Amino acid sequence: MDKIHDSVISKKELVLERIKALRKEIGKDLLIFSHFYQGEDIIRFADFVGDSLQLAHVASENKDVPFIVFCSVSFMAEMAKILCSKGQEVLAPAREARCPLAEMADIKDVEEIWKGLYASGGEFIPVVYVNSTAEIKAFCGKNGGTVCTSANAKKVFEWVFDKGKNILFFPDENLGRNTAHSLGIKDEDIKTWDPKEGRGLSDYRKSRVILWKGFCYVHTRFLSTQIERLKRAYDGLKVIVHPECPPEICAMSDLFGSTSFIKKTIEDAPSGSKWAVGTEWNFVKRLGLENPDKTVIPIFESRCNEMAQVTPDRLLGVLEGIVKGELIGRVTVSDEIADRARIALKRMLEIA
Ligand code: 13P
Ligand code: SF4
Repeated sequence: MDKIHDSVISKKELVLERIKALRKEIGKDLLIFSHFYQGEDIIRFADFVGDSLQLAHVASENKDVPFIVFCSVSFMAEMAKILCSKGQEVLAPAREARCPLAEMADIKDVEEIWKGLYASGGEFIPVVYVNSTAEIKAFCGKNGGTVCTSANAKKVFEWVFDKGKNILFFPDENLGRNTAHSLGIKDEDIKTWDPKEGRGLSDYRKSRVILWKGFCYVHTRFLSTQIERLKRAYDGLKVIVHPECPPEICAMSDLFGSTSFIKKTIEDAPSGSKWAVGTEWNFVKRLGLENPDKTVIPIFESRCNEMAQVTPDRLLGVLEGIVKGELIGRVTVSDEIADRARIALKRMLEIA
């Protein structure tokens, strides 16, 4: 038993050593980006670790590096491909790891609701969550819209309202509702659109915000009973959650906000404070390790299976490919889609 255990450990160590060596060999030709939800064995090799907004900025600012290896789900790697320059290659160790939320808005359904709203005389700007396909970002670019992340959603919503328009938001209903609530918009001015129901749009025309009926399975697993139990068990416990959580969970939490907001809040909190965190487990675990003077626990150990598809073995495979001249996990986006999606993404980066 021990022998098996030892050989597993040494295989992992070998992989990590090999990544380190190849990282050094490729040198300045390579940047490794990692989302906060990646495990420790990926993050340790990253040049940049961040949330989706931070990584979008970094991708648009590093245009001279020939290879970007993007450790995350596919929509983020595609976003980097759209924002970087034509000659750069973006490689994704788990190219097929698609965020289920991002797949919940289909371009044909989006075009249909858009046509219906236009025909009914509605005055809307389309805003898409960064967790979406490149096609939908392109649709927003083409139709005067933009993209948002959980870190800048409020500013993006304000940008639309300042123009005197209403918002068609997809695909995460909870982020849209939580953001609208934080701007004082009441539920009676918000409507949810379920593409499966496909009914008439005339009564949607006057809504301030129309929300697509999509959700993240990782962030909708937290329950009020779990929070109540933890509050009873830990005296003085504060609860902080991501805005992809349902509004009732955000409402009963002390704070809610993006991944980088959660990180900063806990880093800035007084020593000895206690936090229950409602977001992806890998990230919560690391927050605990990085803040040993505080108690940091998950509301529930909710893991993102798609983020977890990036493994050291697969990262190694991509780096070996670069050295051999093979592009493993190569991210491609057609010029037509990329040009339009870039308009929407650049608008977002200008707003926030
Ligand atoms: P951030 O925008 O906070 O990085 O989150 C992305 C995501 O996939 C959350 O589930
Ligand atoms: Fe998608 Fe949710 Fe995973 Fe984020 S945590 S990548 S929204 S499934």
